[in-house]
Amino acid sequence: MNDKMTALIVKLSKEHSLSQEEYEYLIRHRSPEAAELLAKQAVEVRKRIYGTAVFTRGLIEISNICKNDCLYCGIRRSNHSCQRYRLREAEILSCCQEGYELGFRTFVLQSGEDAYFSDERMCRLIGEIKGKYPDCAVTLSLGERSRESYRRMYDAGADRYLLRHETADKAHYQKLHPAEMSFDNRMRCLEELKQIGYQVGCGFMVGSPYQTEAALAEDLKFIEVFRPDMCGIGPFIPHNATPFADRKAGTLELTCYLLSVIRLIHPAVLLPATTALGTIDHRGREKGILAGANVVMPNLSPVAVRKKYELYDNKICTGDESAQCRSCLAGRMKSIGYEIVTDRGDIKKI
Ligand code: 5AD
Ligand code: FES
Repeated sequence: MNDKMTALIVKLSKEHSLSQEEYEYLIRHRSPEAAELLAKQAVEVRKRIYGTAVFTRGLIEISNICKNDCLYCGIRRSNHSCQRYRLREAEILSCCQEGYELGFRTFVLQSGEDAYFSDERMCRLIGEIKGKYPDCAVTLSLGERSRESYRRMYDAGADRYLLRHETADKAHYQKLHPAEMSFDNRMRCLEELKQIGYQVGCGFMVGSPYQTEAALAEDLKFIEVFRPDMCGIGPFIPHNATPFADRKAGTLELTCYLLSVIRLIHPAVLLPATTALGTIDHRGREKGILAGANVVMPNLSPVAVRKKYELYDNKICTGDESAQCRSCLAGRMKSIGYEIVTDRGDIKKI
């Protein structure tokens, strides 16, 4: 590792900010030694703020019906080989019941952009969940909606919203999405969610087609400036029935490197070790935690539908053996000296 690299890592740890050119340098000239130093610093700050606690969120995939056609995504509307499903309200509530008993205190309702889940339906569902489990946070991940819709769901009790920005480089965004989708609208959504009062999560894929080091540097600058409460990053993994079927997947190495950098940019941020990371490496989630992540999101969806919510090939936790992801993850976290806690897992304000 050269002196410039060492100096940049020291500066990042102290100031939590670099210029875009410096972020790009950090990515372009990375080495195993730099990764090790970044991870060491990242784990140190994470431990200072969160100790060895790992927060969990119970992920409920309520519908894989989607009006969008993102080029990378297995549930895009053009994929006619995808078996579509929608959970009923009673099924969603029984996932919450089971999740509550297992110790989850956050439920993430995630869906394709499915008009069936109108504001009325969502508000009723949110009200039911918050009424039954007032000690739990409800996180929504339903894609782009109007400000009015976001506001109504917030007023109904939703606490958080996850909407990955996918890439902070507009030209890159356009290469990953069909012409009818807009980068500006995605950014508008994120700003409005924040203004309304949600705890907001953004995020991006690592190694997506056409991604450059400069685009990743923009992602890092965006995270520094936007200061999301959460940031979901995971490797891009090709799905066989998409235009990107033959593209290469993102790597464990670069994903973990960026997890460490993001932890240093925004020390208190909630940073999941994602399912995609667990898919490209059998200990990917453990390695993510050891790079500075502090959240895991086990699947709580009914096992019968899990295989259908296939954003990318070979997604883990879709078979019968994965009915109990929480205990599996508890064991995995314990094996590296961390523990899953029964807690809403809000961001620490520091
Ligand atoms: N590989 C990895 N992540 C993907 N996502 C969608 N498709 C893929 C893929 N092929 C991610 C996107 C989306 C989130 C729900 O899943 O970033 O926002
Ligand atoms: Fe789902 Fe291990 S976390 S089976």
